[in-house]
Amino acid sequence: MADAGVRYALVTGGNKGIGLEICKQLASKGIKVILTSRDEKRGLEALQILNHSGLSHHVDFLQLNVVDAASIAAAVQFFTTKYGRLDILVNNAGVLGLEGDVSIPQEVVEATVVAVVANSEVETPPLQLKTKGTTIQTYEAGEKCIHTNYYGVKRVTEAFIPLLQLSDSPTIVNVSSMGGHLTHLRNERAKAVLSNEAGLTEESVDGVVQEFLIDFKEGRLEKNKWLNHATAYQVSKAALNAYTKVLAKRHTDFIINSLCPGFARTDMNGNLGAISAEEAAQKVVRVALLPRGGPSGAFFYDKDAYGVAT
Ligand SMILES: NC(=O)c1ccc[n+]([C@@H]2O[C@H](COP(=O)([O-])OP(=O)(O)OC[C@H]3O[C@@H](n4cnc5c(N)ncnc54)[C@H](OP(=O)(O)O)[C@@H]3O)[C@@H](O)[C@H]2O)c1
Repeated sequence: MADAGVRYALVTGGNKGIGLEICKQLASKGIKVILTSRDEKRGLEALQILNHSGLSHHVDFLQLNVVDAASIAAAVQFFTTKYGRLDILVNNAGVLGLEGDVSIPQEVVEATVVAVVANSEVETPPLQLKTKGTTIQTYEAGEKCIHTNYYGVKRVTEAFIPLLQLSDSPTIVNVSSMGGHLTHLRNERAKAVLSNEAGLTEESVDGVVQEFLIDFKEGRLEKNKWLNHATAYQVSKAALNAYTKVLAKRHTDFIINSLCPGFARTDMNGNLGAISAEEAAQKVVRVALLPRGGPSGAFFYDKDAYGVAT
């Protein structure tokens, strides 16, 4: 059961990329990290990496697929029995929502670089693309993206809230993206709903996401001015930022924030990017370790993970 002297953190998608680095850094600070992965083999391999870094006492593995209700329920049950409390939940797992015939989604990388450069002080080196392939937005991939990046976060969060309520400093960090910043949204209705902070509700955010999926399925992306590139990813992260605000208002004794970790070299973007996964994780960890009474309901993005709000 819960050890009063230990802080417990759960990280989704902890088997690689930014998630693995988040686990490593939190564990290095003496926090008990539960590294989760949807795939047991990949999760246990990641655990081995951290064990070899001398962190074996600080990291455990737990299978968790954020789109699988049974997996979430089993994880909560196991967590309740083994640890009895959760202090920090890092919703990091995510997918880009594109299909393609190349390993490097060139147009996504280019658009992301433009967005990042426009909104930050991070110096971005010139792009050296290794291939010139294309990626395709299919409805199936877009729907999966929404279900992972938005509904997955919601389901995991709701399931773990009772364990977080047992903490004296409950903290939730949603790893989002500048791609979800409202300046990138063109659909007027979605923009109006998501930018009306005072009127935001879980239902209104869900409504935007559902309208987007219907438009996508029925071929109205262009007509209704949804962006024409990585649209599901952008909508999922915009909705995630809005949900973060709704949740922060509901749980005023929690610290709940979202952030963009920066454009980092991971598998998600063919390992292009301005910063390393380690640097991106440092930003996430700073937000995860905000002191009690710190900001809540914010979207952070700058090189210190503290500047630009919505
Ligand atoms: N890299 C960037 O430049 C960047 C920029 C802004 C935001 N982000 C965000 O940062 C987060 C981490 O991304 P990353 O760059 O580290 O990408 P990544 O290397 O592709 O890692 C994504 C992680 O999410 C996991 N995942 C995907 N679907 C899942 C599911 N249904 N259940 C549980 N885990 C699942 C993956 O597991 P598998 O190994 O099993 O696929 C993997 O561990 C994402 O939310 C991403 O949107 C990244």
